[in-house]
Amino acid sequence: MSAPAPSAPVYPLVQRTLHWLVALCLLALLPLGFYIEGYETEAVEAANAALGPGGFDLLYALHKSFGLTVLGLMVLRVVARAAMGEPAYARPLSRPLRLASHSVHMLLYALLILTPIVGWIGVSAYPAPADFWFVADLALPIAPNRELSETLLEDVHAPLAILLMILALAHVLAALKHRFIDRDEVMGRMIGR
Ligand code: HEM
Ligand code: HEM
Repeated sequence: MSAPAPSAPVYPLVQRTLHWLVALCLLALLPLGFYIEGYETEAVEAANAALGPGGFDLLYALHKSFGLTVLGLMVLRVVARAAMGEPAYARPLSRPLRLASHSVHMLLYALLILTPIVGWIGVSAYPAPADFWFVADLALPIAPNRELSETLLEDVHAPLAILLMILALAHVLAALKHRFIDRDEVMGRMIGR
């Protein structure tokens, strides 16, 4: 156990900001995704009763808007990561830990890009609008194909999202372990101190 070194390297502000914006979006996306899934009559009625007519469709539009926002943020993140790399560790992690952490981070990047792309193609093929914050319908110009849409949304988008959720949870627990059990500088790399 030791106090964080005052000069411990941190991620540049732009990467920290993108990290936390994506994390916030996920916090909204996952519950919305599970709520809208399957267009269940009970869920539709409850949302319309609570939010007024069109309430359920509003939740759908919000899920898609947050999802497309994550995709946009991730494009910026990949560019930022490629341009700025990652800061050195104040105290190098052990090789297996480094490998595990790097693999989870890269898998998270992949899932945060693939999951929204599959959702996007899925709704476009339905064909349904790909709402973007009530200002645009970003549906892709692809031929309507209900079967493809349902396969993509149910058999690909949902499992990817669930895997993403599990990995994100493991990631958060690992970060908290660094902070409160190991008491090292790892969490500081992303909170900026
Ligand atoms: C990182 C981004 C995203 C995450 C983490 C995410 C997550 C989820 C989750 C957890 C579900 C419920 C899955 C289930 O149990 O069946 C879901 C459903 C859904 N998502 Fe996403 N989503 C994302 C992006 C998008 C985008 C960009 C779109 C479309 C533009 C989209 C469209 C849908 C639709 C239409 C459903 C409901 C499918 C059904 O009715 O079975 N998602 N999403
Ligand atoms: C309370 C929530 C969270 C905490 C405390 C947290 C903490 C951290 C920390 C400390 C790092 C730097 C690790 C290192 O450099 O060794 C990091 C990196 C990262 N986090 Fe999180 N995180 C959280 C939520 C999330 C969520 C929800 C996601 C997305 C699913 C995510 C995705 C990532 C990715 C992809 C990296 C690697 C960044 C890079 O190297 O470019 N994090 N996080």
